[in-house]
Amino acid sequence: MKTYSVALIPGDGIGPEILREGKKVMDAVAEVAGITWRWKEYPFGAEHWLKHRKGLPTLMSEEDMAQLGTHDAIYFGSVGDPRVPEHVGQAGGLLWMRFYFDQYINLRPAKLLRGIESPLRGKRPHEIDMYMVRENSEDFYIGLGGHFAGTKSSENLELLRSLYQARFKVEVTLEPGGELAYQIGALTGRNSERVIRYGFELARRKKLTRVTVVHKANVLTNIYGLWIEKAEMVAKDYPDIELEFAIADAMSMWLVRRPQWFQVIVAPNMFGDILSDLAASTVGGLGFAPGGNINPDRTAGVSMFEPIHGSAPKYGGLNKANPIGTILAGKLMIEHLGRNVRLNSWSRPPRTFWAPGKSVPMTWVARRRAATWATRSPSACSNSSSSQGIMPKFSANLTMLFTDADFMDRFERASQSGFKGVEYLFPYGWKKEQVAEKLEKT
Ligand code: IPM
Ligand code: MN
Repeated sequence: MKTYSVALIPGDGIGPEILREGKKVMDAVAEVAGITWRWKEYPFGAEHWLKHRKGLPTLMSEEDMAQLGTHDAIYFGSVGDPRVPEHVGQAGGLLWMRFYFDQYINLRPAKLLRGIESPLRGKRPHEIDMYMVRENSEDFYIGLGGHFAGTKSSENLELLRSLYQARFKVEVTLEPGGELAYQIGALTGRNSERVIRYGFELARRKKLTRVTVVHKANVLTNIYGLWIEKAEMVAKDYPDIELEFAIADAMSMWLVRRPQWFQVIVAPNMFGDILSDLAASTVGGLGFAPGGNINPDRTAGVSMFEPIHGSAPKYGGLNKANPIGTILAGKLMIEHLGRNVRLNSWSRPPRTFWAPGKSVPMTWVARRRAATWATRSPSACSNSSSSQGIMPKFSANLTMLFTDADFMDRFERASQSGFKGVEYLFPYGWKKEQVAEKLEKT
C-alpha cells in the first residue's frame, strides 16, 4: 500500500476547522483508494509565531521550510491573524512557500456544483466549469520595488529563484523632489513557457479544446509581450487545442457574461489572483474554491494545497466555515500525487437529492473506486437554517454514500444552510468488497 507523507498546517482563524474536515474526507478516500496518509501536523500560525518566531519577518524559519520540503505534499488551512503583521503570514508564509518550493502553478478550478445557485442568473450545474491556471512565482508578486522621498534613490534588488537569479540596479532621479514609489513586475521566458505549457497539458488531459490566455499587453507591453510570445510558441505544439487571448479587463466582463465559454484560463499572477476570486464567485463563493500550488515535478519541489480564501479570524472556532474549498483542495492533492481516485467524474447524477422532510438521503452512484462510506452525526446540522426546507432531518448514524459524483453536493447542501461541522466515520464496518458489491447492484 502506497503511503504519502503530508504536512498539515491548520494555521489561523477558520484554518483548523476546515482542515480538520478536509482531513476526514481524505482519510475516508484513502481507504477506498488503497493508499495511506502519514500526517504530520505543524503549528505554524499566529500563536506559534508570537511564541517562538517573533521578530522573524516570516512565519516559518529556514529549518521549518526544510522540514516541510521532506513531505510528499502540504495540506494547508489558512493564515492571517490581527496579532501578527500581515506581511508575515502572507509574504512570509504563503508566498514564501510558493516561491521556496518553486510551486510555479496555482491551479484554481471553479465548477458550479449541483444544489448551488450561481449569482449569475439561470446557470445550470456544471455549466460553469473552468480551470484557472494562475502563474504563481513572478509578475507583480516578486515583491521588488522602492519608495522614497527626495530627488534620488538607488536600489539593488534581487530576485532569487531556483531556476535563476535576477538582479536589478535601479537608479531613480526625481525632479523636482517629492515622493515616489515603484513596483517591479517581471516574467521570465522559461517560467512563462512552463506555465502556459501546463495549461495546454491540462486541457489535453481533461479533453478540453480551448485555452484562454489572459494578459494586458496593450499597456504593459514588455512583460505581457513576452507572455503572449510564449503562448503563441507553446500553442504550436497543440494543434488540436485552440489558443485564445483575452485582455484582463475584458476577461472580467466575459467571466460574468459568458462563464460557460471558458475551459482552461492561463493568467499571470496578479490578474489570476483577481480573476480567480471572480471565478469562485460565479460558482457560489470563495468557500467552494480550492487551490493547488503546484510544482508538477514532485522531485523539484513539494506542492501545497489550500482553499483560496483567507483565515476569516472573526469566524474562527465557530464551525461555520464552508470546508468544501479545502476538501476540493484535498482532491487536487490526490490528483497531484498520481492517484486519481476519480473524484472528478460527474457522469451520473445522484438518484436522490435531499428534499424537505426526507430523512434518508441515500445516493448510489456507480463509481466504485471512489466510493466512500461516511456517517453524519445527527447534530451535524442542528441550528442550521433548516426551516428553509433544504436540510433533511437527520436520523442517528445516518449512513451516506459519498462518491466522486455526489460527495461535494452533500457538503454544499449543508453549508448552504449554515455549516455546523460534520462527522465522517470510516470505514463504518464496511469492507471495500461490500461497497463494491452494493455498487454492482445499482
Ligand atoms: C490568494 C491570496 C494571496 C495572493 C495573498 C494572501 C498573498 O489572495 O492566495 O489568492 O494574493 O496570492
Ligand atoms: Mn487572492
